[in-house]
Amino acid sequence: MNMVIIRNVALVSLILLFHGLEIYARPATFQQDFKVTWADSHLKLVEGGRAIQLILDKNSGCGFASKYKYIYGRISMKIKLVAGDSAGTVTAFYMNSDTDTIRDELDFEFLGNRTGHPYTVQTNIFAHGKGNREQRVNLWFDPSADYHTYSILWNHKQIVFSVDEVPIRVYKNNEAKGIPYPKSQPMGVFSTLWEADDWATRGGLEKIDWRKAPFFAYYKDFDIEGCVVPGPTTCASNLINRWERPPYQTLNPTQAQRYQWVRSNHLIYDYCTDKSRYPVPPLECHV
Ligand SMILES: *[C@@H]1O[C@H](CO)[C@@H](O)[C@H](O)[C@H]1NC(C)=O
Repeated sequence: MNMVIIRNVALVSLILLFHGLEIYARPATFQQDFKVTWADSHLKLVEGGRAIQLILDKNSGCGFASKYKYIYGRISMKIKLVAGDSAGTVTAFYMNSDTDTIRDELDFEFLGNRTGHPYTVQTNIFAHGKGNREQRVNLWFDPSADYHTYSILWNHKQIVFSVDEVPIRVYKNNEAKGIPYPKSQPMGVFSTLWEADDWATRGGLEKIDWRKAPFFAYYKDFDIEGCVVPGPTTCASNLINRWERPPYQTLNPTQAQRYQWVRSNHLIYDYCTDKSRYPVPPLECHV
């Protein structure tokens, strides 16, 4: 099954880009860049091979991951989330160093909800083994009605999570002020769909309704620009790489305005203001 998926999919074509000194690989086909990591039987090619369907039923969830790791870059995917009653389901899209003790991780987790109630996007950042930096926003559209673009930018200056190009979270590199920042470990790209009704929806109050199973999420248009590991060792420090250039070093005024709009209108949880967890907010919350 695995092999079948792999042979038929050509989601994007392999291009090696040379821009002056910059050399990086863009992702190729699902077969070249991704592998099924959990439950082959629950991943299917759909839309004429252009998209992947992830299936969650009582037997299993499923997942896939990039074959390579990347150090710095910009990754994006179009995702259509579980429709209807998705309470208790979690769809995730994240980067992870896959190291046990000093894990770095950048997470998007989409927490399902009862029909008609808003999906929640939870983001988290692990730097040098420490996470617990959850933020949650409710989406301003129905993410199960159509594909939307979710992206993670990671460069020397900042990490930005965006939804349809709207920044929903920014984590600046403030290492100079003693704040941990992921910078030396390459990370792979992962996606999963699974059941987490013990915590996901209204803190675990809303349970998954298995009568509505199977649940489906869809992914397409994978795009990864980044320094592939193993690859040229000079890539990660090359500030000419597109994702390192000035437009990616800070938010521009339009992005900053949209980010403020999200924070004012859609932010529903921020660990920085959670006094019960952090009587003294972590250092990165002040700067
Ligand atoms: C689900 O809907 C409820 C009620 O509208 C809302 O409070 C909550 O933030 C939504 N998301 C999750 C994941 O529970």
